Amino acid sequence: MSSLLRRKTITTEPGEGEHVLARTLSWPHLIALGVGAIVGTGILTLIGVGADKAGPAVILSFAIAGLICACAALAYAEMATMIPASGSAYTYSYVVIGELIAWIVGWSLILEYTLVVSAVAVGWSGYAAPLLQAWIGAPMALMQGPELGGIVNLPAIAIIAVVAGMLILGTRESATVNAILVLVKIAALVVFVAVALPYFDPANFEPFSPFGFGKSIADDGVERGVMAAAAIIFFAFYGFDAIATAAEEAKNPDRDLKIGIVGSMIACVVIYMAVAAAAVGAVAYTQFANSPEPLALILRQLGQPAAATYLAASAVIALPTVILAFFYGQSRIFFTMARDGMLPAGLAKVSSRGTPVRITLFTAVIVAILAGVVPLGELAALANAGTLAAFTAVSVCMLIMRRRAPDAPRTFRTPLPWVVGGIAILGCAYLFISLPVKTQLWFLIWNVAGLAVYFLYARRRALAT
Ligand code: ALA
Repeated sequence: MSSLLRRKTITTEPGEGEHVLARTLSWPHLIALGVGAIVGTGILTLIGVGADKAGPAVILSFAIAGLICACAALAYAEMATMIPASGSAYTYSYVVIGELIAWIVGWSLILEYTLVVSAVAVGWSGYAAPLLQAWIGAPMALMQGPELGGIVNLPAIAIIAVVAGMLILGTRESATVNAILVLVKIAALVVFVAVALPYFDPANFEPFSPFGFGKSIADDGVERGVMAAAAIIFFAFYGFDAIATAAEEAKNPDRDLKIGIVGSMIACVVIYMAVAAAAVGAVAYTQFANSPEPLALILRQLGQPAAATYLAASAVIALPTVILAFFYGQSRIFFTMARDGMLPAGLAKVSSRGTPVRITLFTAVIVAILAGVVPLGELAALANAGTLAAFTAVSVCMLIMRRRAPDAPRTFRTPLPWVVGGIAILGCAYLFISLPVKTQLWFLIWNVAGLAVYFLYARRRALAT
């Protein structure tokens, strides 16, 4: 029993000879970093899945998912500054709660990162495929998964191979490239809103919420409702870990992290709601529901093919950084868990270039297979399940530490911790139960498998100190 609850201790002071990062970032950089990692397939593609589930009320789904994610983000920032060690939610849980929960969180993070890579690759392909078809005559059957009538999604597999290759060569996100791509993404969304808004017709908002609020099964057997959509749309909001992990590099972490995290969440909520309002107002939501490239489709339907091509090209250029960020995050989680003895060290071995080649190749094969054939909505839903588990754990850790060590130094303190933490924990639970039942079952299967690995392997080898 004691080993299930054993906790890891870490030193927060960098040891002798350890690299201390220069404090160069202030809040505008942090907001750019956050928006760069957050804006992706969620707004560009899952808006179509959300519209299918909620109708015009998908706008409300964006607001709900954004609020819950923002509360979790604040808890995340507090823990990230208290425990500035790699491994994010897994490490916080290991330090604060204990080994078994840490294992479940780490196992959930592996699921999250893996499936986000697959999902964003599929989202990328949704915008790339029509361009490839128009420009080089590539056949659609080889650019879409079976659920859309294709055979295999080759562009999604190709972009994963490219990003994996970049990681093996040692590519990291660069602040300059990130800043440029943030501008590319935001400009594309602003153009979308500017072009679509003049076609705004309030009649497209009637009826506003055809499937009600809570998750329920519609006539066609699909689980729908504002919350069912929010549980998918939640995907659009995470990725801010990028800011929390930059805490060490912030000039004035207390002020800048708060502004960076809250600012990028507010920026995303505002941008997303504007895009959603413009999309729903421009055409009937049924026109773009479940489309692999909903925003481009809307622009074409409005007779704006040049704007549609511009938006698709921007997505094609900018989305690979989101894939890169999560792919890199995956290898870091793996690395941290292997260092603790929880996973085979051989897998996390780094090459002479300092990159974890084996785990990158291993992950690439799995994410490529998933991206080739599994529908985007299912990938995103299961990624969300893993993320919700991790966010809940981080919020619980934040509250436990407020009780256990109320006076311990914190670079960043969550305002109204019990309210914010409570919204995060209950909100994540509500989003989880709003996910499709199939997703919940897969998540259960994943964790049963994870617990088997834990009790047969990791528990005996874990090196909690
Ligand atoms: N938030 C990221 C996206 O929407 C994962 O692509």
